[in-house]
Amino acid sequence: MNLQKIRFPHLAVLAVVLFPSVAFSQQQPPPHPNPPPVRDVGVTDPGVRSGADAGGPLTGLSSEEWKFFAAALDVFKAVNSVSGTIPGEEDPGLGPRFNHNSCAGCHAYPAAGGTSPPANPQIAVATLHGARNTIPPFIRANGPVRVARFVRNADGTPDGGVHDLFTITGRSDAPGCQIVQPDFATAIAQDNVIFRIPTPLFGLGLVEATPDANLRAAFNANAALKSQLGVAGHFNTSGNDGTITRFGWKAQNKSLLIFTGEAYNVEQGVTNELFPNERETAAGCAFTPAPDDSTTLGTVANVASPASAHASDSFNIATMMKLAAPPAVVSTAAAQRGERVFRDLGCQTCHVPAQTTGQSTTAALSNVTYHPYSDFALHDMGGGLNDRISQGDANGRDWRTAPLWGLGQRIFFLHDGRTNDLVTAIQAHAGNGSEANGVIARFNAATRDQIADLLAFLRAL
Ligand code: HEC
Ligand code: HEC
Repeated sequence: MNLQKIRFPHLAVLAVVLFPSVAFSQQQPPPHPNPPPVRDVGVTDPGVRSGADAGGPLTGLSSEEWKFFAAALDVFKAVNSVSGTIPGEEDPGLGPRFNHNSCAGCHAYPAAGGTSPPANPQIAVATLHGARNTIPPFIRANGPVRVARFVRNADGTPDGGVHDLFTITGRSDAPGCQIVQPDFATAIAQDNVIFRIPTPLFGLGLVEATPDANLRAAFNANAALKSQLGVAGHFNTSGNDGTITRFGWKAQNKSLLIFTGEAYNVEQGVTNELFPNERETAAGCAFTPAPDDSTTLGTVANVASPASAHASDSFNIATMMKLAAPPAVVSTAAAQRGERVFRDLGCQTCHVPAQTTGQSTTAALSNVTYHPYSDFALHDMGGGLNDRISQGDANGRDWRTAPLWGLGQRIFFLHDGRTNDLVTAIQAHAGNGSEANGVIARFNAATRDQIADLLAFLRAL
């Protein structure tokens, strides 16, 4: 079928036909057509591609950078315990509340730095070393790693923050600490809890090294096609310096270092130089002086990377992410055909294939063109994906275009990990008021062969 000839019944197309100048006017709000009817496309997601070709450093690092990356990857994998006294878990600072005990535990698959593995590590950590946590019903042994946020506070005002699943109460390294888990049963009964799954971290140094001007140019390059398809979008920006924020499901976070400091404190309870204060201050639960992680002020010698040994864990971890290579593509003939389908359907209006970094002090990040399949902008994805939480310029229905690189080796999809099927993930883009409705109508009208090729392309990434 020639995709150019597909006609789909929404007002934008009628408007384009009848009043082209009106429809393309920059002044008009973008059309938000109704969702297309769901259709069984009759094609199955081929599933996770085998082969763990991920997790290494960028090519072209200097030997000092390479040594730093290797040492920093160990820090990323290090397991935290409460006071660092448990063999094999010598990093102190876990808790009092936490979602897991290492970055690499959640960012695990297909290699350290990725995302949810097939077996959820949160099950084992819940009762590790005598901890007495109950597993909330949204955490399953073969489900995605999940982090929970509450929509509202008890008094009805907006909350939006992360409520850690677990506490250190009962652990052998936390004698006397007595705190209880959040009341998830009530939160679920009141429809007050939403979930986020980990995003993969490969290649994020390239994203960080992309100047705002380049992101805006890539965003504007397909403006005509976007307005034709009802796609709009806007960037999330920092309330402090006004530049584009680009990390996290809602592009809510500015830099890899800030994300690291925040994740270390929020996910693991490890205070650090960026987020120096404990989130839970209950008496009897503080076992280490603050911050748990900091820069070494003394001299460090006789190690492979003295620079890494001198730096804080946070700086090491952020630098590991900065120097991590993007996922490799394993292309096939079907995947090459599928790339054309991706373009013909209009997926690339949001999932922009190529971005370019600026000049960087790290040679391997300087003026590089890379392929994240994202504009790193926010789009109104309609009612079906609304999580009712605002972060910066993103409201509940706004999501950052999920970068599709590495998709071939991803197990769970969408911000809450609701599906492991690519077709379901694509069709879930449609919903009341979603900017993607026009594109998903085209997807639903494509032939089986076209969809099979499209899926082959996505699983080659
Ligand atoms: C309990 C599981 C868990 C742990 C532990 C964890 N993360 Fe994450 N990570 C997540 C989730 C969930 C998100 C998505 C957060 C969001 O956008 O709301 C995320 C997102 C990120 C992102 C954003 C990437 C992007 O695509 O923009 C970075 C960077 C990150 N994590 C780094 C870290 C680092 C560094 C550590 C260790 C200090 C860490 N994470 C520990 C679950 C985890
Ligand atoms: C209007 C912008 C837009 C268009 C058009 C669009 N997407 Fe997306 N896509 C998104 C956003 C935003 C998300 C994240 C949504 C969420 O997690 O709630 C996403 C998520 C995805 C995911 C899941 C990725 C993950 O990390 O879980 C896949 C797969 C995907 N898109 C494929 C496609 C394909 C294929 C097309 C074309 C048929 C398409 N998208 C068109 C914006 C878009």
